[in-house]
Amino acid sequence: MTTERTLKALADNAAGEFAAATSSPPSIYHDENVFALEKATIFQQDWICIGRHAEMPKPGDYITRDIIGAPVFVIRQRDDSIKAFANVCLHRAARLLDGSGHVSRISCPYHSWTYNPDGQLVGAPFMEQTAGFEPASMRLKELRCASWEGFIYVTVSADVAPIVESLDCLTEHVADFRMGDYVSVYEAEETWSTNWKCLVENFMDSYHIHRVHKDSFARYGSSEDITELFPGNDVCAYQVIQESENRMSVYAHPENTWLKGDDRYKTYVANIFPSHVFQLQPDLLWYVSILPQSVDALHIRWAVSIPAEILDNAPDREDAIEEQMALIHQVNIEDRSIVENVFRATASPHATVGPLSYLERNVWDFARYLFRRICA
Ligand code: FES
Ligand SMILES: [Fe+2]
Repeated sequence: MTTERTLKALADNAAGEFAAATSSPPSIYHDENVFALEKATIFQQDWICIGRHAEMPKPGDYITRDIIGAPVFVIRQRDDSIKAFANVCLHRAARLLDGSGHVSRISCPYHSWTYNPDGQLVGAPFMEQTAGFEPASMRLKELRCASWEGFIYVTVSADVAPIVESLDCLTEHVADFRMGDYVSVYEAEETWSTNWKCLVENFMDSYHIHRVHKDSFARYGSSEDITELFPGNDVCAYQVIQESENRMSVYAHPENTWLKGDDRYKTYVANIFPSHVFQLQPDLLWYVSILPQSVDALHIRWAVSIPAEILDNAPDREDAIEEQMALIHQVNIEDRSIVENVFRATASPHATVGPLSYLERNVWDFARYLFRRICA
């Protein structure tokens, strides 16, 4: 299918009613022109989740990500604030930092130019013969950085609206969980062989739980009848799984006195567009930040956090972490297998669009977000 026809199919689907919605055209996961549009209108514009405050607690702690060819890093400052920078040396553009970790100063791996955590160049060996060289006037390019509920976001855009105010619609629902205080117990980065949209859609698809996760999330029974899907808006989409005292696989610890009523048994599954997805419970936070590497590969940073009151009161803290992680690892393996499957199969000349179930409401919300960005 040509790019023009792919975008027309996306637009037609987005313009209709949800009751008549279909999946997105299969070519949208493979078209290099679509990928170029996504890079320009989404990843060079929107806010990208880099990680969580709890994952970089000390001054000098940093996390790097690559926003489709734009390497960036966030680093905690001596005053405890967090700044974001382009991860590119001011000399001959070497990449400065890799992965995540801790530095007291940032030392370029090429010729040892050295920067303070605030981006100021403070050292450059053998440069004294270079006319007009003034390190005091040279700082790494700083990027816009914001924090919401313990998450850190960066944008390479100077123009996009502030993210925190945009998320008021979600903040009012999740603020009482105090997820910013959850303790980070596991962090990982992975590369998957699939288009980034396949994973975003999968995370927001509550239709596959009964099959793909029959031995993990669905092992306590079906959740379809207790899942409520809310229409997405310009910045996010979310759904709520409401358990109860009688049917508890999700619940707040007795020492959690701030969550009231139904919130004590509630799970939020959300997508902050484009690609920050998370599952928030009174007893767990699991997030995935998805970045495309190419049309057929993605890189994720994902992590799991647990409320302090649960860890503090567990008979064995490591056992409590291990129990949650065993489940999440299983779910992750199950999801990876199916989203890599779907990506391969959508390349088939016989792949077509199919009707959506009511449990895929947020998949359609994501398609409408895509339409607004890449077809505008
Ligand atoms: S590229 Fe960084 S010091 Fe030369
Ligand atoms: Fe899943």
